[in-house]
Amino acid sequence: MTRPAAPEQPEQAAADSESGVSRRHLLGLFGAGAAGAAVGVAAGAAGVGVAMSTGAANASGSGAASAYPFYGEHQAGIVTPAQDRLHFAAFDVSTTIDRDGLIGLLRDWTDAAARLTQGLEVSEGGAVGGSDYAPPADTGEALGLPASGLTITFGFGPGLFADADGVDRFGLAARRPASLEPLPRFQGDALQPERSGGDLCIQACADDPQVAVHAIRNLSRIAFGRASLRWSQLGFGRTSSTSTTQQTPRNLFGFKDGTANIKAEETADVSEQVWVAASDEPAWLAGGSYLVARRIRMIIENWDRVQLGEQEMLVGRSKGSGAPMSGGTEFTEPDFEAEGPTGATLIDTNSHVKLAHPTVNGGMRMLRRGYNFVDGNDELGRLDAGLFFLSFQRSPEQFITVQRSLAADGLNEYLKHVGSAIFAVPGGIRSGEYVGQALFA
Ligand code: HEM
Repeated sequence: MTRPAAPEQPEQAAADSESGVSRRHLLGLFGAGAAGAAVGVAAGAAGVGVAMSTGAANASGSGAASAYPFYGEHQAGIVTPAQDRLHFAAFDVSTTIDRDGLIGLLRDWTDAAARLTQGLEVSEGGAVGGSDYAPPADTGEALGLPASGLTITFGFGPGLFADADGVDRFGLAARRPASLEPLPRFQGDALQPERSGGDLCIQACADDPQVAVHAIRNLSRIAFGRASLRWSQLGFGRTSSTSTTQQTPRNLFGFKDGTANIKAEETADVSEQVWVAASDEPAWLAGGSYLVARRIRMIIENWDRVQLGEQEMLVGRSKGSGAPMSGGTEFTEPDFEAEGPTGATLIDTNSHVKLAHPTVNGGMRMLRRGYNFVDGNDELGRLDAGLFFLSFQRSPEQFITVQRSLAADGLNEYLKHVGSAIFAVPGGIRSGEYVGQALFA
């Protein structure tokens, strides 16, 4: 049984586009940039039912299509227009499995993810089509829901290449990317081991939280006995836009977040700053990226007592429009030299935007793809809220450089980094291959 989700098959979309109706709509959905091309090309290679909907633009304005192809040059979920919801999970691989066991897990995850992202159940038979005398293969909570723009992105942590004792469990040590190491300690870090690290990660993004949770739940279930959940994080209200077709959302400080982010349409910067190139080391990671995850707690009760003018000074942008404090509109380039009547620069030297800007970080940028979180409250009655920061970059050095620069960030008084992880995200695959196959070749 399949989830009755596919409102329209590709053939139908093509037929509609000849009538001139869907073509305009599709262009609007996918844009003209790299992301759009990847969606169109890889759709045919998916090899499973494609639930690509022409009526897919969601009400929340994330700009996401209903279904993105799982197969392609790069994994989906990076330059894909950021969806509204996240379920992120980090796993420890069981000490009881060997290299073949790990490959078996990646094969099973690949098969399931290829189906789930197309709005299908985890396998044929699924939730209610199997034996009355066996647990269903699919947990069932996504029955009747469309693909909801689900993307599933896999990453490999440093522990896959050598465990904490330096043991090379899977014969991969010689293939470890030299820069895939746990991130260095940064000033102010208050990291909790139980929210940090991991041998493997899965980022599931969708426009419906139930679809993202269903994906992680079923992939965790498939991994039973082979990999166990180490930590996981739910997110809402994407804190970045990754396409010029999207409106800039707001983080829990109330500021627009994602204005100066790398957008899929900036193809030169995407190649330069996001994807590992074929000429980079190691070759198996070509077309992939490095993913940094940081659970950043925001002390929002203190922030909410800060005057508007000071909030804007700390960020370096206007809270309403998102324009830099040097003037203009949201997408005007900040002018860090511009001075006000007192002779002080209009953008504070220790503002977040100044310290994170490429001009003070050797030209380094990153593709930010984080989410807000609120996980109840702590024992002091404060909301356990913040930003689950996710960034994709060609080298971990990009994140490290900017995060070190942010040591002087005035915002730090209201922030606490409590979780940290890094993963190498392999490139995309073709139908018939499994995720990360090049690593094991
Ligand atoms: C909870 C913590 C954080 C908050 C509330 C926050 C908020 C913001 C806001 C409001 C902007 C301006 C709008 C924009 O261009 O997106 C911004 C920009 C930026 N942030 Fe953050 N941010 C946080 C953490 C980080 C971290 C950990 C990094 C990387 C180490 C980072 C890197 C950047 C970069 C690169 C920019 C763009 C700067 C530019 O080119 O103008 N941010 N952030």
